Amino acid sequence: MALKSANPTTTEAWKKLQAHFETIKPQHLKDMFNSDANRANELTLRWEDFYVDFSKNRITKETIDLLIELANELDLKNAISKYFEGDVINATEGRAVLHTALRAPKTAEVFVDGENVIPEVHEVKKKIEDFTDSVVSGTHKGYSGKAITDVVNIGIGGSDLGPAMVVDSLQYYKNHLNTHFVSNVDGDHYQEVVKKLNPETTLFVIVSKTFTTQETLSNANSIRSWFLKSQPKEAVANHFVAVSTNIESVKNFGIDEANIFPMKDWVGGRFSLWSAVGLSISLAVGYKHFDSLLEGAHKMDMHFKTAGFEENIPVISALLTVWYNNFFKSESEAIIPYTQYLNQFATYLQQGIMESNGKSVDRDGNKVNYQTGTIIWGEPGTNSQHAFFQLIHQGTKLIPTDFIGYVESLYGNKDHHNKLMSNYFAQTEALMNGKTESEVLSELQGQSASEEEIKQLLAFKVFDGNKPTTSLLIQKLSPESLGKLIAMYEHKIFVQGIIWNIYSYDQFGVELGKQLAKSILKELNEDVSSSNHDSSTQSLLTFYKDNC
Ligand code: F6P
Repeated sequence: MALKSANPTTTEAWKKLQAHFETIKPQHLKDMFNSDANRANELTLRWEDFYVDFSKNRITKETIDLLIELANELDLKNAISKYFEGDVINATEGRAVLHTALRAPKTAEVFVDGENVIPEVHEVKKKIEDFTDSVVSGTHKGYSGKAITDVVNIGIGGSDLGPAMVVDSLQYYKNHLNTHFVSNVDGDHYQEVVKKLNPETTLFVIVSKTFTTQETLSNANSIRSWFLKSQPKEAVANHFVAVSTNIESVKNFGIDEANIFPMKDWVGGRFSLWSAVGLSISLAVGYKHFDSLLEGAHKMDMHFKTAGFEENIPVISALLTVWYNNFFKSESEAIIPYTQYLNQFATYLQQGIMESNGKSVDRDGNKVNYQTGTIIWGEPGTNSQHAFFQLIHQGTKLIPTDFIGYVESLYGNKDHHNKLMSNYFAQTEALMNGKTESEVLSELQGQSASEEEIKQLLAFKVFDGNKPTTSLLIQKLSPESLGKLIAMYEHKIFVQGIIWNIYSYDQFGVELGKQLAKSILKELNEDVSSSNHDSSTQSLLTFYKDNC
């Protein structure tokens, strides 16, 4: 059954939220804390090894209640059931959205077109496990009899970002295999990767859901040609495997059916790291850790599916995005992990969130008259503090920010970890409190500044504060806790899409550029010209052709 369609701005709850917003807008977070001793406690959720403090957001308990009223009015509970049960909620592509089935236990039952998909999910997992074990143990040999030392993931978008982010995030748990990622059609990218490799000991994993993506096929073809310069054709079977839904095209590329790891069309590219797309994760950290990642995601799935909305981390987190995006008119959200391991996390979420919710037509096909998907950006702390935090603190834009921190560091260096975490705590406090004129004044007087200096500097040193943050404090970065964290954001994306009445699981916008690039490529390769370009594009093309 289709998802219900309703313009959120016409609901009763929206009207109440609009009125409520007018009372919240002038309030300062500092005063909210001063007037309510129980605030932190009331607005913090604890679940498993997650401590999620929403209290430094510009909300009250009433805001949460009204946002939940909005979710109820828009039938979120029912939509969640449809999501988990395999209904065709990706209606524009006629597909179910079942990344949750990929991490469900063997005993679960999820039906697509009358067939329980769980047995096949576990068959593919077994294939991933067996192959991983054979490569990691050295039983799977290269053609010349040497063990594999390097794995190269060839893919782009969801076939690259998820595996690349997880492998980087879990590098502490990595085995001896070196893992590389080739994604960009920029030929210099693959050249820089292969120049370090010995073809005799390298395994290439070609990942493409469709097996039609220009970047991936170009890279796969060029890398195979590079490989065949030194290796015989028969060696391809030992060194190339593929992950795809398009088995025929993979076979036509020259990969044996036994070396194909299948995936299903009900797995969206940007949600696919849990499927065989995660093969390079499994190879990098071993199957056990890959399975723990999935187990963590499954735990978050169960939390999301069963917890009441007031205790539901993805639901509250999604509703707060709606609050800032649609009432405060914030345009972007920052995600700041206080661990270098999550260096690629914001980049990964950019695809997940922006490709999903960057939509302007509602589920009835009408233009929306309200804001939808937010701009996502971020970098790890503390580096980001020395890069762009100035704008969050004293710029003119309101940027709600997620701070992700860990109680324990992995190598246990307490000195460094306390320094790191002192920044994590200090930043959210500073963003909230700011610095008043009288505080700046006494600070300057304490530094024996002259009257003249004080007059000159005062205005510049005042921080308004009142900048909203959410603090996620997790016990330790592990495959399981990372699985929970990624799944948390996946469900947040889903909830936002339901509230904004959009389809989150297609990405037609990406297609236009691809089509145009195809015809321009023809012009470049065959040196033909087209009269269809605007004068700017035409001049650029002429300049390029004349000078290349
Ligand atoms: O960028 C569009 C997109 O379709 C993404 O959604 C997808 O993750 C990526 O291209 C790669 O697609 P494929 O896995 O089919 O090569």
